[in-house]
This record gives sequence, C-alpha cells and structure tokens, in this order.
Amino acid sequence: MDELKQRILSEGQVLSDSILKVDSFLNHQIDPTLMHHIGQEFARRFSNEEITKVLTVESSGIAVALMTGLALKTPVIFAKKKKATTMDKDVYVGKIYSFTRREDVYIAVAKRYLSSEDKVLIVDDFLATGEAAQGMLQIVEQAGAKVVGVGIAIEKAFQKGGEILREKGIRLETLVQVTNLSHGQVEL
Ligand code: G4P
Repeated sequence: MDELKQRILSEGQVLSDSILKVDSFLNHQIDPTLMHHIGQEFARRFSNEEITKVLTVESSGIAVALMTGLALKTPVIFAKKKKATTMDKDVYVGKIYSFTRREDVYIAVAKRYLSSEDKVLIVDDFLATGEAAQGMLQIVEQAGAKVVGVGIAIEKAFQKGGEILREKGIRLETLVQVTNLSHGQVEL
C-alpha cells in the first residue's frame, strides 16, 4: 500500500534496530484519512470472504479495526488487556507474552460478543513477534468461531510473527513489510 509506505518513509522514526516509531499518524496522533484507506484496503483484500466480526486488541489496533469494520459493515470488537486476577467466567481469554514488559498479559473478550457462528477477521497495527495475533486466535478458538484471516498494517518481516501465522495456515495480509531497521534506516 503505497500511501502507507510513503508515510513510513517520510515520518517514521527508527528508535532501535527493531522499533519503528509512527506516532504522527498511527500510534498517538492518528490520520483518519489514512486509516480510512487502510480499512478499505483490508475490505478489498478480504472481499471474497464472508466476515461477521472484526477483532483487534486495545489500544492501537482499534483505529485500524474500526475503519475495517466500517468498510466491511461489520461490528468491531477489541480485546481488553486484563490482569489475570480480575478475570470473570463470562469472558474468553488469550495469553500474550509481552517482550517489552517481560511478563504475561491477558486479553479478554466477553462471551456474548463472539459465538461459534462468527467468521472473524483479526486486524492489528503492527506484527512483530506475533504474540498479540496468537492471543486473539486463542480467543476465536475458544468461541468455536472461524478465523477468516489476519490483516496487519505494518509487518516487521525480520521478526518471527509472520512466519508463525503462515505456518499455521492462516491467511495473512500485511499492507507494508519492513525488512530492516539497522543503522537508523527504514527498509521496505
Ligand atoms: P506483537 O505485536 O507481534 O504481539 O509483538 P510484541 O509483543 O513485540 O509487541 C508489543 C507491543 O509493541 C504491541 O503493542 C505492538 O503493536 C507494539 N509494537 C511492536 N513492534 C513495534 C514497532 O516497531 N513500533 C511500534 N510503534 N510498536 C510496535 P501493545 O503493547 O499491544 O500496545 P498498544 O500500543 O497497542 O496499546
């Protein structure tokens, strides 16, 4: 997706060999027009599939998911991050290991919003280690619903998330692939 590529190249900041900061249009300040186009692009790519729900995880995934749901005319669910101790039995729960916090984070979706009838498109802003996507897959599986695919705005292709999902046989659509962040340079 050329528009997203150009924004990354002009505004992205390389924080380290593995972290790309895109706070001016995606992760802090949000460009609604760009987000709208991202949503339309996911809807176009998955147009041959029947989709009943779009699922993401708070917080940065919400803008991407909302625009995708708008384009697909489906409800949008965001999994909420929780401490394990505050979990009730009316939720499906996925476990994510956070490499930044070096601890397990739990994500939860109320059972009433996801059923075995649902055909779910998972979307997120970044794909890095794939932990978030796998946590959401756990939730969809617990609901007995079907995963139609995973849509990601920015895949860091030098990390293992993409490989893990493709090896599971999941349809993965990523709009931009970052291949390298070494020496302060973004390579797409
Ligand atoms: P994952 O996203 O594939 O699960 O990988 P990881 O566990 O490494 O990511 C942890 C958090 O950092 C996630 O956000 C993810 O979206 C974000 N992230 C990963 N790599 C980058 C990067 O290069 N740049 C930016 N800007 N973010 C990155 P989160 O903890 O769920 O937080 P939130 O911002 O969505 O609330």
